[in-house]
Amino acid sequence: MNPVPPGRRGRLPLSLRRRPVPWERQRPTWRDARPGVIAGALERARARPSGNWYVVGASAGLRGDRPLAGTVAGREVVVWRGPDGRPVGGPGACPHLGAPLRDSPVRCGTLRCHWHGLALDGSPYAGWAPLPVHDDGLLVWVRLDEVGGEAPSDAPVVVRRPERARALTAVYTGTGVCEAEDVVANRLDPWHGAWLHPYSFVDLAVVGSPDGSGSGTEDAFTVDVSFKVAGRLVVPVRAVFTAPGPRTVVMRITEGEGAGSVVETHATPLGPDQRGRPRTVVTEAVVATSDRLGFAVVRRAAPLLRPLVRTASGRLWRDDLAYAERRWRLRSAGRLPG
Ligand code: FES
Ligand SMILES: [Fe+2]
Repeated sequence: MNPVPPGRRGRLPLSLRRRPVPWERQRPTWRDARPGVIAGALERARARPSGNWYVVGASAGLRGDRPLAGTVAGREVVVWRGPDGRPVGGPGACPHLGAPLRDSPVRCGTLRCHWHGLALDGSPYAGWAPLPVHDDGLLVWVRLDEVGGEAPSDAPVVVRRPERARALTAVYTGTGVCEAEDVVANRLDPWHGAWLHPYSFVDLAVVGSPDGSGSGTEDAFTVDVSFKVAGRLVVPVRAVFTAPGPRTVVMRITEGEGAGSVVETHATPLGPDQRGRPRTVVTEAVVATSDRLGFAVVRRAAPLLRPLVRTASGRLWRDDLAYAERRWRLRSAGRLPG
């Protein structure tokens, strides 16, 4: 464990680790990662209102001649830009004979069913009823009151993000056999970082958790950790994890290189697979920013960097989804410890 003292953060964007500690000799975190603390944080997250809003994809998917399509708890939905450019959306089955509207083209703001040409401009038509849609500039949300069952709200809870003009953004999407709460539980266990993801993280210390230990005062986990860049080169940061809603966990870098950067993880229930097991879509939005001059160059290279950021997220999520899927299997068999 070798966290950088807070006073030195920000002045040390990159560090060279002097004596790398072998993976098996890092400090075990299992005693600190008390199941009850994680379960308590999860319970409080699940009690927060969502207004029945669900993330269905990245705003970037709204451009072009095809709708953005998603499935929430077995309901197909499509979203596209209507005739006035604003996002519109609704059920993904054509009201005529049920064609999959996800495969239908958009022409001048009108979704045209590719089976028999029925045209939808986002207003109610022939039994098709629109759903509330929200584009927050990075992610697209749909409100499904019959799925959520909560009191509906006008807009989803969107976290504060760095200014887009000074940020590099990337959105990763993956699917796991588990429920949304398993994805959230994984994100509310910051102690696994350097053990499960040694290719990305070292020197992880949870310095504040919602049970009152350490420095955390809000309902948050505060973590000092170093991101591995290459070889012994690392970026030490302080990151704070919060759950602003029942299906969302946000990691905000508060000190060190990239302070202000945000990683949002959204879990959207997809519906059961053919064996009746639940599936959940993880949508992770990275909004990275930096005060450093070099970041302007990084941003210009964004189209090149985005796939790299996605690959990095993909590697982390391969392991994190395995964690979430395992948790669901144990939980559904009544064998989850703790
Ligand atoms: S199924 Fe869409 S127009 Fe017939
Ligand atoms: Fe993880």
